[in-house]
Amino acid sequence: MNSMVKALLGVISIIISICGATSVSLRNIEGVNITLSPTKNGIRFVASKYGQIEVLTGNLNLGKDLSSVSCVGLPICEIGDSILSVEDTQMGTKITWETRNKSTEFQDCFDLPDGVYWYGGPQRRVQTWPINNMIINGSLPYVSRRDDNFAVAERYWLNSLGVFIFLEEFVPLFVDQNLAHDNQVCFSARLQEPYINREKNILEYYIGFDYDLEVRGGHFEATNNYLGTPLGLPNRLMVSEPIWTTWAKYKRDISDSVVLEFAQAIKDNGYNGQIEIDDKWETCYGSQEFDKEKFPDIVNTVKKVKEMGFRVTLWVHPFVNSDCQEISEEGLAKGNFAGNMSMFHVPSGLCVPHI
Ligand SMILES: *[C@@H]1O[C@H](CO)[C@@H](O)[C@H](O)[C@H]1NC(C)=O
Ligand SMILES: *[C@@H]1O[C@H](CO)[C@@H](O)[C@H](O)[C@H]1NC(C)=O
Ligand SMILES: *[C@@H]1O[C@H](CO)[C@@H](O)[C@H](O)[C@H]1NC(C)=O
Ligand SMILES: *[C@@H]1O[C@H](CO)[C@@H](O)[C@H](O)[C@H]1NC(C)=O
Repeated sequence: MNSMVKALLGVISIIISICGATSVSLRNIEGVNITLSPTKNGIRFVASKYGQIEVLTGNLNLGKDLSSVSCVGLPICEIGDSILSVEDTQMGTKITWETRNKSTEFQDCFDLPDGVYWYGGPQRRVQTWPINNMIINGSLPYVSRRDDNFAVAERYWLNSLGVFIFLEEFVPLFVDQNLAHDNQVCFSARLQEPYINREKNILEYYIGFDYDLEVRGGHFEATNNYLGTPLGLPNRLMVSEPIWTTWAKYKRDISDSVVLEFAQAIKDNGYNGQIEIDDKWETCYGSQEFDKEKFPDIVNTVKKVKEMGFRVTLWVHPFVNSDCQEISEEGLAKGNFAGNMSMFHVPSGLCVPHI
């Protein structure tokens, strides 16, 4: 089948146009329809179930006067120098904005209404959960960075009505939440650092729905189609037996004798399971070397804890810490970090990133 035919088969099943607004019924989820209405403030997006419960609302290209656009909902809708396409997917819709004009930027915003809770997004030092109240600065690229302790930048959001948004990895993404617009999360694509040297600007993402409007179903939908699942199973004992972490009782103040004393006390009280040697056993965060003063003979310590009948695990973390110089220096030397453009210099024809 050629790609044109495929593309045509892939489009929305039912399109009804009323006074410029386009109502799109999703083929695979009975009762859910999406209404796209061109307005002076972008294209109003309303996804509802049986036309009653609004499950996701927002404005595509917020801030742009699109009131005269008449092709919304067609497979290819040309708007100025950009193309918008809205396609049917297995359990929802795929939205794509695309342009070759490198200064054109797209900004699709979705509402965070009272009573609907959102999950997903970035992991940060000050984490709010659910994330509705989190403030994210959309001036900064949506990538891991040191500046505001922005560790993991997931491109996945899920709400308590089982609606999810998953953005493609290649989108030059900036995310703003509650800053540019109150009670909205805005996904922007623009060709600014670090997303440069690209031919096109593309904002592409999937919106998925759960038939029963349940968060669990929505998340399953997303893992099955976009996120994937782990390839292996962790040790079943991790859920069938307790995990005892030194943090709960001792915080950072741990040592050889503290760990042994802790294990003994748990055993004496008739419990078993797993002893987790938590924060802070390392010489510095990320060195992955035991502090010899606290743990002079870790092999022997672990052996003793195991003899008491416990499994033993260690707390580790996926961060690079500036107070662990040796490790971050090594990463810098090997060019493991992305730098900003002012940091690129060109010695003898080579491009070397610095931080
Ligand atoms: C779609 O939902 C809207 C409300 O958002 C409703 O007015 C419209 O009748 C519905 N269309 C269909 C085809 O169900
Ligand atoms: C590219 O986009 C910018 C900003 O949207 C606009 O000002 C400019 O005229 C566009 N250029 C072309 C060649 O269309
Ligand atoms: C957002 O980030 C920009 C760029 O770093 C900065 O100039 C601005 O002050 C930040 N805004 C807020 C409210 O933190
Ligand atoms: C680039 O990174 C350097 C070092 O981290 C910093 O001093 C500089 O302000 C950054 N420049 C921009 C434009 O962000």
